[in-house]
Amino acid sequence: MQPLHACTFCLTSTTSTYATLNPSTRATLDFASTLPPPCYKYSSFQASISTSVQMGSLESNLPETSQFKPLDPEEFRKQAHQVVDFIADYYKNVETYPVLSQVQPGYLQTCLPGTAPYRPEQFATILEDIQNHIIPGMTHWLSPNFFAFFPATVSTAGFLGEMLCTCFNSVGFNWLASPAATELEMIVLDWLANMLKLPKTFLFSGSGGGVIQNTTSEAVLVTLIAARDRVLNNIGVQNLSKLVVYGSDQTHAMFPKACKVAGINPCNIRLIPTTIDSCFSLSPVALRTVVEADVAAGLVPLYLCATVGTTSTTAVDPIGLLADVANAYGMWVHVDAAYGGSACICPEFTHHFNGIESVDSLSLSPHKWLLTYLDCCCLWVKNPSLLVMALSTNPEYLRNNPSESDSVVDFKDWQIGTGRRFKSLRLWLVLRSHGTANLQSHIRSDIRMAKTFERLLKSDPRFEIVVPRQFALVCFRLNPDNQCRFDHTELLNRKLLESVNSTGRVYMTHTIVGGVYILRFAVGATLTEESHVAAAWKLIKEAADALLKGA
Ligand SMILES: Cc1ncc(COP(=O)(O)O)c(C=O)c1O
Repeated sequence: MQPLHACTFCLTSTTSTYATLNPSTRATLDFASTLPPPCYKYSSFQASISTSVQMGSLESNLPETSQFKPLDPEEFRKQAHQVVDFIADYYKNVETYPVLSQVQPGYLQTCLPGTAPYRPEQFATILEDIQNHIIPGMTHWLSPNFFAFFPATVSTAGFLGEMLCTCFNSVGFNWLASPAATELEMIVLDWLANMLKLPKTFLFSGSGGGVIQNTTSEAVLVTLIAARDRVLNNIGVQNLSKLVVYGSDQTHAMFPKACKVAGINPCNIRLIPTTIDSCFSLSPVALRTVVEADVAAGLVPLYLCATVGTTSTTAVDPIGLLADVANAYGMWVHVDAAYGGSACICPEFTHHFNGIESVDSLSLSPHKWLLTYLDCCCLWVKNPSLLVMALSTNPEYLRNNPSESDSVVDFKDWQIGTGRRFKSLRLWLVLRSHGTANLQSHIRSDIRMAKTFERLLKSDPRFEIVVPRQFALVCFRLNPDNQCRFDHTELLNRKLLESVNSTGRVYMTHTIVGGVYILRFAVGATLTEESHVAAAWKLIKEAADALLKGA
């Protein structure tokens, strides 16, 4: 026996209670204490002993408690089949629900009790509540009539991958914690990098590597921290307040947020203005001007976040030219290709990654366009050791030979958290089940539908396309008199959006760029077909007719 093994400690600490146990329990205990730790049987036995010892007055509950089997394989099979039926029916019927939930704030409190049940409830009752109370409060992102934000794409393969990921519930913080989880992630990230024609410098099979983060925000945060520490190691931590970061006024709002989390002085976050003339992409000349002014003021340029496919209008920043400027000042360059990057698996879009060899990191979220359930953000870095240096932890309880030997990847050192899910299973199933060919045709089909919508808009002179379409997002507005009076046109379009969305038959969102209020029609929900696009257009047109008649 080891001198201080956790289980033995529990036993000896209850010696006074030991004397009061009946002989057969004592015999079992004695036997258990001879087993070599760690021992599963011993631990579970110990758990039951301490329960009976500590719970004394609750003994009357024990028979029921002993029936409690939170993971009974046969019960699992039965209930999971019911859930699969429920989900398949949901997918079949999702089109019949209002896309944008019509409930009022606080609605759920009036439907559900204020406390959790003491006794177990029937699974069928719970499913009924999901149907009756949860579904009405859902905005149906999977509806074929969802054209808002960027859609969240799904597929049977993605779902099955999610089931398997959940099945294992592995917490693969380091290689040993689940070697397959780490190694599959490395393989899948290399596969996707190859599909995107990324340079070898981003691949494990080259000199870099990729990792699955939960969100783009985290991908940006970890690279920012790596970049920050690299610079502070040279100039001293006392100079943190001198570090400056750059993006454009179209960079996603997660960027300034990540910068604040990383300790960047909020006054040193430069969001450089863009204009319609450059289709809202960041100008390398403007970047250089701002950086030069900062350097002249004694500040230290740290990090540039360029975007391929901005959230408002899918603008594409010229990566190569921006990287030339940034590299001249020793900055870390990150490319946020959360949405647009997926299109680059098609050869006709790979030019958007021109110059990618000059950047330090790139992130892309397959949950946005590659049929992989939320959340899955792939981050590739050229120099993983910078991430590891900034983020690694090495507590005694996680130490093990493979990690010490430096022959494995421990993904806990590439992310903020310690624990991590086996998400690569999801992506692996998606890539294998569909193949590059089907994923390419999925992207192309969305783009074809967006072009259809664009054609329909162009056929009606009351509408205008405000920003040229790049991917499957169409940015437009109703502008019947072709007038420049912003306030009037904005009000008209606000009313149009409200009118269309309130029907529950379509959900679109808006944005404001260059001071212009525009409507966004984002094609991409997995179940959307040409007929849904045509129906959406008819609805928009009718709403415009009604508005203009009443105006
Ligand atoms: C270009 C871009 N970057 C970043 C994000 C934010 O991503 P996340 O929610 O994964 O942090 C979005 C969200 O739509 C986006 O469109």
